[in-house]
Amino acid sequence: MDTAKALAHFSTHRNEYLDDLKSLIRIPSVSFDGFPPAEVRKSAEQTAKILKARGFQNVKLLEIEGAHPYVYGEVLASPGAPTLLLYAHHDVQPAGDAERWQSPPFEPTERNGRLYARGAADDKAGVIVHSSAVDACLKTGGLPLNVKIIIEGEEEVGSTHLAQFLRTHKTLLAADAIVLTDTGNYDTGIPSITTALRGLVHVDVEVKALKQSLHSGMWGGPVPDPAMALCKMIAALSNADGTIAIPGIYEKVKPLTDAEKKSIASLKQDNFRDQAGMLPGVELLGGRPPWETNWRQPSLAINALVASDRKSARNIINESAWARVGIRVVPDLDAETVQQALITALKKSAPWGVQVEIHAEPASGWWYTDPSHPAFLAAARALKKGYGTDAVMIGCGGSIPFVEPFARELGGVPALLIGVEDPYTNAHSENESLHLGDWEKSVKSAIHIYEELAATLKK
Ligand code: BES
Ligand code: MN
Repeated sequence: MDTAKALAHFSTHRNEYLDDLKSLIRIPSVSFDGFPPAEVRKSAEQTAKILKARGFQNVKLLEIEGAHPYVYGEVLASPGAPTLLLYAHHDVQPAGDAERWQSPPFEPTERNGRLYARGAADDKAGVIVHSSAVDACLKTGGLPLNVKIIIEGEEEVGSTHLAQFLRTHKTLLAADAIVLTDTGNYDTGIPSITTALRGLVHVDVEVKALKQSLHSGMWGGPVPDPAMALCKMIAALSNADGTIAIPGIYEKVKPLTDAEKKSIASLKQDNFRDQAGMLPGVELLGGRPPWETNWRQPSLAINALVASDRKSARNIINESAWARVGIRVVPDLDAETVQQALITALKKSAPWGVQVEIHAEPASGWWYTDPSHPAFLAAARALKKGYGTDAVMIGCGGSIPFVEPFARELGGVPALLIGVEDPYTNAHSENESLHLGDWEKSVKSAIHIYEELAATLKK
């Protein structure tokens, strides 16, 4: 390969690569139930079109019954050289509140060096990092190793068909290392390698007390309020300090090693409140450095809480109330055990004989790796070259269900998690955006990664 030429090619053609990203963003590929699956299929097809145009071969949609399509491609032109499996996802979360978006969610819009749109960063930027870096190499001196690429279509709904996908395509996807572009940078311009992910368990809980809603004056008093019952059940899940009040959880949390403590302590954490957009007076919870809490402690979130709504709030007792409750799990918690404990806790605190229905969504486990494999050092060198500044090792409060089972099934190969979601990205929220400077640096780093890993993983 000719790294200098590949980098120059990318810089010259930056706008064309960015157009690939914009074309993908314009397709509202929301993978959630209740959103049109045809759009996710369209984005899979557009992803395939981009991969083909960018030099990938054997490009195809991989279909699993009931799952949104995955997209596969490969460039296997270096016999005897190591093989990388590149990963990103083309599906996105729902846009949220349309009125809070400053520009339409599926219309890519540049403002102040950032590209605004749902999926601009999470994770369509990740898709285009891979396709651009590979293309820039193929257009110049070629790739120094083999690459396979897998772009998932159901990451944002918990990769529910992953086990089946893995069973079906394990041989096709065999590789010596995985490079994933779906994580964050510690700060804008600070290249980061993620070495731990939290897992996630979710439940939907519905509380019912009445056949229909009632006039709150005519009936209030003797009749229990299901919204209040649900609030009591949810309130019982946490302690006054914000920790989770479900027994059997904290005992299992893996303590940090001295090296991990030192590594976290070396990171600047004094602007966490601002980055999160916390309002004055709102307390920081956890009693430890905030990123340590976020990466290595479990956390509870009420993602949605519904009885009536603001517009039609009237003087009633609602007949039912509904919530979606999630717990992020960390090493060494067992996701399914935590999910069962959450269900038990909710049922146990239901007052007044209300009916409780709980629906458990599939759970995803945490992932944790020892970054002492030389591939991590190689990735750090590549990131330093791409960003012009030292890389840091970080954890992640979010989840990517693909990582743990894949790294394991591929025989424990190193999984290198690098991405472009900086703290100002607003992923999953309104006004999601991508820092375009970091996106360019990320593509350049990917080009350097191929060179570094070709040498490091040599057989
Ligand atoms: N890109 C995120 C993971 C992430 C979160 C990276 C925070 C960096 C910081 C990923 O696409 C994601 O959001 N995953 C879901 C997975 C869930 C549905 C199992 C998540 O964490 O909510
Ligand atoms: Mn996401």
